[in-house]
Amino acid sequence: MSLDTLNIGVCGVGTVGLATMDILMRQAEVLEARSGKSMKLVHVGARREHPDHDYGDARVSRDVMALAEDPEIDVLVELIGGTSAAYDLIKRAIQQGKHIVTANKALIAEHGNELIALAEASGVQIRFEAAVAGGIPIIKALRESMAGNEVTEVAGIINGTGNFILTEMSTKGRAFDEVLAEAQSLGYAEADPTFDIDGTDAAHKLVILASLAFGVPLDIESPFKQGIDALTPEDLDYAAEMGYRVKHLGIARQQAAGIEVRVHPTLIPESKQLATVDGVLNAVMVTGSAVGELVLVGPGAGGPATASSVCADIVDIARSPLGSGPALGLPAASLNATALIASDDIASEWYVRLTVADRPGVMSNITQTLADRDISIESLVQKAPLSGQSEVPIVLLTHQTPGSVISEAIEEITGLPDVQSDYALLRVESFEH
Ligand code: HSE
Repeated sequence: MSLDTLNIGVCGVGTVGLATMDILMRQAEVLEARSGKSMKLVHVGARREHPDHDYGDARVSRDVMALAEDPEIDVLVELIGGTSAAYDLIKRAIQQGKHIVTANKALIAEHGNELIALAEASGVQIRFEAAVAGGIPIIKALRESMAGNEVTEVAGIINGTGNFILTEMSTKGRAFDEVLAEAQSLGYAEADPTFDIDGTDAAHKLVILASLAFGVPLDIESPFKQGIDALTPEDLDYAAEMGYRVKHLGIARQQAAGIEVRVHPTLIPESKQLATVDGVLNAVMVTGSAVGELVLVGPGAGGPATASSVCADIVDIARSPLGSGPALGLPAASLNATALIASDDIASEWYVRLTVADRPGVMSNITQTLADRDISIESLVQKAPLSGQSEVPIVLLTHQTPGSVISEAIEEITGLPDVQSDYALLRVESFEH
């Protein structure tokens, strides 16, 4: 790296890659003023030809590995996604002495321990602000701004596509598939949108947040995972009638017995700030021993917002090429694994929706089954039958109950005569600290 120029290679010319190059070119002057270096895009890795793209004076290679071998590049920006070619590319680029900036949460969650240790041993930096919550600087906040705190909880809406879908379904009554197609056309969704829907994308991000918050190694196996596909429009409506909003949350919490790491749709009281975060916005609530509760809100997906985080990492590297602190807040060798609390052992309040025949005795059988397991009911409401059906939905909220206990109770209840096998079971979190 020369004293006054930072040579950048960008691999991947999708939504985020294009937006990053756009900022590098349009904001060149201000980036130079802020970093003390001239930012030069020297090489672009684009696996396909895009005649309409403008890469300025940069060389273009179809084989992205050519950028790992390019001696001119100081910082390699990986925006191709996936965990196969991206892994080979980053590993090779680190071995060639290049700093890395990536938005690839799957790669960091799965291979981050190895790649970060390799970067440390090679004297280069690996930065991934764009990997979690798009444009929100949550990684910097946890790694640097909260350094004086013991972090006890991180909870948030960390998938923009999922939040966009839930918001459009609940506020406008739009159909799931139609909203997902719109999220894809707006550049919010993953290449495989299943990851947005089934909670995989949020789980990758939560693994990174948990590591930063609690000083534990990245553990891809740790999160319990449930997606928004577990929800029906009726559940969103019933929750709203009871004063709750349903949000797809990632929650990492430090307990005396270990840490909880879980991703699932959650009922939140509508008075909580997280409940009001709609559309593609993400929000991350962090609880620290000194600062108390912080909530960072901002766009969680989309090209320009994500590129904003990519560029922040590039500027950080330009300012401190010798290192601005460990990537996960602690040197890789100092991260300490801690016990994981299984979802079955985590108690919470629960939302339960059952569908039953409207006959005498059905309700008392259900409440008796709950009472047998010491499950206390907070409210129980019978709803009108859905159109064309003779059975009726019943919706109940419980007091604090461990996951294993409520699951066993629901299994028994759905085996009762006059109770259908279909049900919804969702956690309720009030975040009262
Ligand atoms: N598909 C992701 C989301 C992109 O919707 O949040 C940002 O990580």
